[in-house]
Amino acid sequence: MCGIVAATSRKRDIVPLLVQGLKRLEYRGYDSCGVAVWDNGLKRARSVARVAELEEQIQHEHLHGEMGIAHTRWATHGEPLVCNAHPHFAGDEIALIHNGIIENYEEIRAELQAKGVEFSSQTDTEVLAYLVRDCYHGDLLKAVEDALNRVRGAYGIAVFCKQDPSRIVVARQGSPLVIGVGENEMFAASDTMALAGETNNFIYLEDGDVAELLPESYKIFKHVGTEFEAVEREVREVQAFSNAVELGPYRHYMQKEIFEQPRAIADTLEAVREITPAIFGEEAAEIFPEVDRILMIACGTSYYAAMTSKYWFEAIAGIPCDVEIASEYRYRKSVPNPRTLVVTISQSGETADTLAALKHARELGMDKTLTVCNVATSAMVRESRLHFITRAGVEIGVASTKAFTTQLTALFLLTLTLAKINGRLTAEDENLYMTQLRHVPKAVSSVLALEPLIIGWTSRFADKEHALFLGRGIHYPIALEGALKLKEISYIHAEAYPAGELKHGPLALVDESIPVVTVAPNDQLFEKLKSNMKEVEARRGELYVFADSDTGLSSSEHIHVIRMPENYGALSPILHVVTLQLLAYHTALIRGNDVDKPRNLAKSVTVE
Ligand code: F6R
Repeated sequence: MCGIVAATSRKRDIVPLLVQGLKRLEYRGYDSCGVAVWDNGLKRARSVARVAELEEQIQHEHLHGEMGIAHTRWATHGEPLVCNAHPHFAGDEIALIHNGIIENYEEIRAELQAKGVEFSSQTDTEVLAYLVRDCYHGDLLKAVEDALNRVRGAYGIAVFCKQDPSRIVVARQGSPLVIGVGENEMFAASDTMALAGETNNFIYLEDGDVAELLPESYKIFKHVGTEFEAVEREVREVQAFSNAVELGPYRHYMQKEIFEQPRAIADTLEAVREITPAIFGEEAAEIFPEVDRILMIACGTSYYAAMTSKYWFEAIAGIPCDVEIASEYRYRKSVPNPRTLVVTISQSGETADTLAALKHARELGMDKTLTVCNVATSAMVRESRLHFITRAGVEIGVASTKAFTTQLTALFLLTLTLAKINGRLTAEDENLYMTQLRHVPKAVSSVLALEPLIIGWTSRFADKEHALFLGRGIHYPIALEGALKLKEISYIHAEAYPAGELKHGPLALVDESIPVVTVAPNDQLFEKLKSNMKEVEARRGELYVFADSDTGLSSSEHIHVIRMPENYGALSPILHVVTLQLLAYHTALIRGNDVDKPRNLAKSVTVE
């Protein structure tokens, strides 16, 4: 998603810092980028190519200055063209960058046009820049506040103006923004990673905050009604890392992150000594016994983690569990139950739909909230009473991999905790499950060793346009996740079905041209799954099966089998999904796709 970097300094040219920041935000996905500085006038460079090309352009045009703003854009309003790239200028007076969407921009645009403004882009951002100019009467902070009182929508912005060229005003509503506090310089960014090495002192702005940055000072104000009141926000010491950006021996971040899973799961488990509510926060011991239902809310891959865990919550903890797609839940009329534990799951913790759904659940009177998240400082974590931070480390590949398996790890811990509180977990079971959990990193390593066998299959997938994924029970969401991975990065149309549903429709698709990927653990549904596979075989379908070794399944003419190293019982989904990640990765590789930055997708979806 779009990225913001801004800096004002008294001691150096900040253009290299801005460009470095943009490079670190590249992984989030973008289709254009730009930098604007004050250098005896508003100057800018914009590009629809990569940041590296923008850097060349900047050198060529000798862009430099002690104050500037920079942006990577992921198009929402207006195509990815240079004229739509940020920073946007309002005449020669105001420069502005913006993440998010201004919902009422059309009416403001018409109003400004009536006053004679001629727009040079199709964006809502340029409208905001002109609105700030329209509100400007000698005080930039006041102009931004007045402009923000007029707009509806989500934004993270950074603005400067020619009349006061060392001052930057930033604001946040629904789009992440941090201030970095330096020595005689001040920074802002949509992610601390952009400022790694520049400072370790960060202030996480809250929704409704506006801040004014000068090289030696900052002031923060919060939105109260239509007024802005001065507010203190904590300066936190955060070691922002950029070394996650190093690829090491891997070709892509996605491959690196797939192979990091044993470590990520081990790290996630490291702080857990025993099954106790305390691992989810101080209030958990008080909240959990009052819970008689779970409502899980998430998007995309995180939604599939939620779906998987529903099977655990109901089977092991005996708690009814509903799973909702955030963008649907937030807009539908539902029946609230205040004894519900509302669990939001998110890698980034900034996904707009999930965050809004969490707030919606709270507004409905459900205040027992828990977020499972990979970013400790994210908005979702701050909005929830309880949380569990997965330790996947920064995930850069747009297609989520290690975030998913660490989410499953966290959700299994939550299952055990609730089962224990409900008196459904004996000490013996607890020991057994914990031993199995602690062995998962090793088991995942054995699955990763199957990579050469999986590569052997991918040449047969690469020329296909459609694929079917089958699973049953708790492995049905894993089939869904496998199909999502394949379509995201290989652009092969892939659909997943619970295998028992085949004969109710999708069987009509099956012929020799469509690969049917099947997740086949040795569980109580295996015999039924075998019958479903026969249905495919009888229609000359080509089956690609990941089977537990103790199923006894072996390859024959139209059935290709890769055997999983071990049967892992309740935790089997964590192992099976790894094979599907590798299958998607290597298929996309053969097709020559940009695996880490698939078309049309962004890493963190902070707009609706
Ligand atoms: C798929 C993927 C997306 C995200 C979804 C939610 O590989 O990455 O489907 O899972 O956008 O993102 P988070 O988990 O950050 O809320």
